[in-house]
Amino acid sequence: MGKFDGKVAFLTGGASGLAERAAKDFAAEGAKVVIFDFDKENGLRVEKEIKDAGGEVLFIEGDVRKSDLVEAGVKQAFEKYETIDFLIHSAGILKDGMIHKLSEEYWDDVINTHLKGFYLTLQACAKRWIGYCKENPKEKIAEYPDRRVITISSQAAEGNIGQLNYAAAKSGMIGMVKTAGLELIRYNIKSHAIMPTLIETPILGELLSKQEGKWRKYYSGRIPLGIGESKYVSQVILFLCSDAAWFMNGEVIGINGGRLDKV
Ligand SMILES: NC(=O)c1ccc[n+]([C@@H]2O[C@H](COP(=O)([O-])OP(=O)(O)OC[C@H]3O[C@@H](n4cnc5c(N)ncnc54)[C@H](O)[C@@H]3O)[C@@H](O)[C@H]2O)c1
Repeated sequence: MGKFDGKVAFLTGGASGLAERAAKDFAAEGAKVVIFDFDKENGLRVEKEIKDAGGEVLFIEGDVRKSDLVEAGVKQAFEKYETIDFLIHSAGILKDGMIHKLSEEYWDDVINTHLKGFYLTLQACAKRWIGYCKENPKEKIAEYPDRRVITISSQAAEGNIGQLNYAAAKSGMIGMVKTAGLELIRYNIKSHAIMPTLIETPILGELLSKQEGKWRKYYSGRIPLGIGESKYVSQVILFLCSDAAWFMNGEVIGINGGRLDKV
């Protein structure tokens, strides 16, 4: 018996990093997992790894910035598994630049991936969830199916040098989950954001290895418990989707390795 037997998790960005780990952890706990990502090679790799471990999984190639692809992906997930219980928006990119040099292209790419991607996936799920509730009205909110929405913000939401676009996207996500929390709770949909500090995943590219490990040393010194691992984030995502978090809504949760100052 797994903790999430019979549940369906839809993870954007599940072909790598934090959502790859969460997808594997969900599957190991009995959830059916849908990975929505534009990286086909890694999406198929993760799909195979989950299947080989005995899990139920579907990889859908798609771009969170494109409404038609998001709609088609969410539709396909509903058709295959009848529902989505947990939406995890983890698709993300870094395109850093100092303010005076940051290109419009970098601005648009980061804002569209993180914010528009969240808007589109949330809307595609919410309209189906709300449609179901309207067709099956209940007296009490708690009688509606229990849905969770988790988006991955960042400690950089509080500001970070060279990340005007990323900080805007990550703080924008907080407004979005607060709004979703207010608007969607009437349908028993609970929304949260998590704010990890630096976690070692492919999004960092060469950051930790370049300049003879200068930045690895820097971050190891700045984060009291050390540079993070994806399991620290995954376990919070799974908690926020668990029965233990049933009474929580609209929370913004730091996963900070003990670090309370800026990034
Ligand atoms: N790793 C960290 O230190 C850290 C810290 C705080 C927040 N985050 C956030 O966590 C999320 C996941 O990051 P990660 O560390 O797992 O990075 P990652 O690069 O390992 O994974 C991101 C995934 O998103 C996918 N993706 C990117 N743009 C996409 C798009 N338009 N459509 C579909 N898929 C797309 C990529 O293909 C990749 O598989 C991101 O939002 C990131 O900003 C990461």
